[in-house]
Amino acid sequence: MPELLRLTGVSRRFSGLQALRDVNLSVAPGEVLGLIGPNGAGKTTLVNTICGVTPANSGTILFDGTDITRTKPYQAARRGLSRTFQIVQPFAEFSALDNVAAAALFSQPGESLKSAREAAREHLAFVGLDAQADQPAATLTLAMRKRLELAKALAMQPKLLFLDEVNAGLNSAEVERATELIHQLARSGITIVMIEHLMKVVLNVCTRIVVLHNGHPIADGAPREVISNPAVVEAYLGQQYAQRTARHG
Ligand SMILES: Nc1ncnc2c1ncn2[C@@H]1O[C@H](COP(=O)(O)OP(=O)(O)O)[C@@H](O)[C@H]1O
Ligand SMILES: [Mg+2]
Repeated sequence: MPELLRLTGVSRRFSGLQALRDVNLSVAPGEVLGLIGPNGAGKTTLVNTICGVTPANSGTILFDGTDITRTKPYQAARRGLSRTFQIVQPFAEFSALDNVAAAALFSQPGESLKSAREAAREHLAFVGLDAQADQPAATLTLAMRKRLELAKALAMQPKLLFLDEVNAGLNSAEVERATELIHQLARSGITIVMIEHLMKVVLNVCTRIVVLHNGHPIADGAPREVISNPAVVEAYLGQQYAQRTARHG
């Protein structure tokens, strides 16, 4: 199978804490990989490590045939790695349009402001924010800011797109809309790695699932197989079920 991304023995420590431990992972072109696991498992750290934000202490990361283990975030972005942030932080005073145009200019520095804005308009239309293009980002709702994050990530023309909890905090209609956007992106040929807690979304969208627990993958495979794996139920799904029961019951 061809590979777009391969991690071999990747580890990352934060002072005393081993956030990632000997992670081996490969992603093939066209996959929609679901990355799941309990809070604190290391999911966001894994994305940050691949994108160069918190570089690996050991191990290697190959992207599209190139060693990117020591690559800076802007270099990773220019190579086609793009991501949304779990905590959305747009430039509050900038319009939605200019937030997206800034992302386009960041990843393609030679581009003119005019063409960056034209591209930004298309990305905003794709995520359904054309009517909000000229509004300051600070005035958008959470659901809109999540979609703005997606438009910013797309403006970087990714080959591989990481989505970090794009559905967190959204209502069910908003989740459905976001899920449809993810389907469309996958159909357009962008390879996707998504961190997601909503199992309904994971099972609807993902072609494969990796479960991270204490910084290490404990399962990797077809969605239905992975979610019935006893170790996964024990480490994660049982806990999710217990939380849901506590909330509703
Ligand atoms: N920049 C950082 N500095 C120190 N500790 C961190 C940092 N980023 C993450 N951690 C710690 O690493 C662990 C994994 O965190 P994270 O990757 O955010 O988990 P997840 O996204 O799976 O919930 C947590 O214990 C978290 O507190
Ligand atoms: Mg996280």
